[in-house]
Amino acid sequence: MAQLGMDLNRFILEEERKYPSATGSLSLALTAIESASKIIESKVRKAGLSNILGTTDNTNVSGDQVQKLDVIANDLMIRYISDSGQFHALASEELDDPVFPENGRDGKYVISFDPLDGSSNINVNVSIGTIFSIHKKIDGTVNDFLQEGHKQVAAGYIIYGSSTVLVYTTGNGVNGFTLDPSVGMFLLSHPDMKIPEKGKIYSINEAYAHKWEKNLKAHIDSYKEKGYSLRYIGSMVSDVHRTLIKGGIFAYPADSKNKSGKLRLLYEASPMAFVIENAGGRSTTGAEDTLNVKPDSIHQRVPVFLGSREDINELLNVIG
Ligand code: AHG
Ligand code: MN
Ligand code: MN
Repeated sequence: MAQLGMDLNRFILEEERKYPSATGSLSLALTAIESASKIIESKVRKAGLSNILGTTDNTNVSGDQVQKLDVIANDLMIRYISDSGQFHALASEELDDPVFPENGRDGKYVISFDPLDGSSNINVNVSIGTIFSIHKKIDGTVNDFLQEGHKQVAAGYIIYGSSTVLVYTTGNGVNGFTLDPSVGMFLLSHPDMKIPEKGKIYSINEAYAHKWEKNLKAHIDSYKEKGYSLRYIGSMVSDVHRTLIKGGIFAYPADSKNKSGKLRLLYEASPMAFVIENAGGRSTTGAEDTLNVKPDSIHQRVPVFLGSREDINELLNVIG
């Protein structure tokens, strides 16, 4: 059992040693993400001072207004992931198409990432994050990205909040590491994370309630009589991290205007579902388990309902 305070690099190497056939490639892949996140964290912490707040003139393939910090985070993720040599290809929320790094030809993995999640919160100093999802390369084409979420090799996120926490899973439990800025190391702070079986918090943007399917609306309303609290930050990373720790449900449903909801499968729903399910929770699109969805495009959107197993099961009894 890893000790509290163990640094992330040692934890990754200890995990690798459990697999005699491991080549060290995944360890190198994870440490590349760790390095990128430390640089992104340093930019986020002083965003207000270095004139990197605000928007660029661009919108991304999903139609989102691109913030300056989105671009900086995206460039950093591309650089560290490419330099690691472990990834044959990478896909990003901020790129229309995948990138095949020059020195990644022999890379065993592909990675999809949201370089900065919750961008609308950057200018108001509310927690934001980075989300990543790693799959095995299959044939070196875009099909490598169109694998179901249950085939992920690793997934996780970094939340730039009151402290910076990296949470990830390789399919055998979920562990959280808090950045100690005085030494620049992520130290094990949340070993073997488990989501409560049931919670008392629901997290959803109720401004869209008038557009939800009526059974869903009735179920969400029932939380009020049951004494649930509503917490909604508008950064998926923050809302999911709180749900993982305190339990309850996070939802971004489809509605009459957005038939597939807003959140993207490859680099938001699927990695978060992998973390939540490996912590004992459940994630669904309402029609099927999130991790069983076979993607048909890189920026595909899906409805998201994830959190405590009992809360999700109750919801599915109503909308499933
Ligand atoms: P991103 O900043 O990467 O585009 O993601 C924003 C997403 C997600 O973080 C959050 O849950 C959702 O947008 C909030 O959307 P609404 O403002 O429509 O509630
Ligand atoms: Mn996002
Ligand atoms: Mn984003």
